[in-house]
Amino acid sequence: MGTGRGRLTRMALSRRRGDQAGDEPSGDGGPRRGAAGAGAGDVIRVVVRPLVYDDVPAAENLLDAAVAGRRQRRLGEEHDVLGLPGFGAWGGDELIGLATWTAERPRAELAVLAVAAGHRGHGIGGVLLEWVAAAGRKHGTHHLWLVTTNDNLDALRLYQRHAFRLVELHAGAIDDAREHKPEIPRDGRCGIPLRDELVLERRL
Ligand SMILES: CC(C)(COP(=O)(O)OP(=O)(O)OC[C@H]1O[C@@H](n2cnc3c(N)ncnc32)[C@H](O)[C@@H]1OP(=O)(O)O)[C@@H](O)C(=O)NCCC(=O)NCCS
Repeated sequence: MGTGRGRLTRMALSRRRGDQAGDEPSGDGGPRRGAAGAGAGDVIRVVVRPLVYDDVPAAENLLDAAVAGRRQRRLGEEHDVLGLPGFGAWGGDELIGLATWTAERPRAELAVLAVAAGHRGHGIGGVLLEWVAAAGRKHGTHHLWLVTTNDNLDALRLYQRHAFRLVELHAGAIDDAREHKPEIPRDGRCGIPLRDELVLERRL
């Protein structure tokens, strides 16, 4: 994660079904109805800006709840996804979503994308993804890749709707990881056995 204080950038989560991703994330800084776990009809303003060092405690709390912590294991390796640059989505002073990436060329990894449970389904994940894609293009990254698991249907849906293609199947990778880390559950989301890793990739 970058240690410089990022410029605060206002945006609105205004993507609609069928919008195409442009060079820059869409948004005009306006309010969003019913997003961020607000009550029905409530309007909240969501701000996306680069994560900075002071955001680490809030980011850790979000990742602890959403993805079991900042240390993520994938493809047989563990890495600290908060040791990378990224973006946070804020509803007031609450961090409600974040994405980090490896900022490499020509291929970079989307290391984590997480939205707080009460705030999903309102476009926050998609907007954060587009912020990373825009940052990648600016950086000279040609492809963005990521790893997800066979049970993560919400993520598979989101990524494929945002132009990612399935490029690798690592059958049994989670079963192998469980041998070192028995705390990895056998049952995944939606009653699906948690077994495999999938690599997805998007050309930027
Ligand atoms: C995957 C994840 C980041 C998606 O974030 P999100 O903010 O819900 O994503 P979006 O709202 O942009 O997109 C979700 C889609 O499902 C729809 N949706 C509707 N209700 C939903 C709900 N209750 N939950 C999730 N999605 C819902 C959204 O409208 C959207 O559809 P669209 O593409 O037609 O607009 C989020 O579910 C999450 O944090 N999961 C846990 C962590 C995780 O698994 N991260 C990915 C690791 S690879």
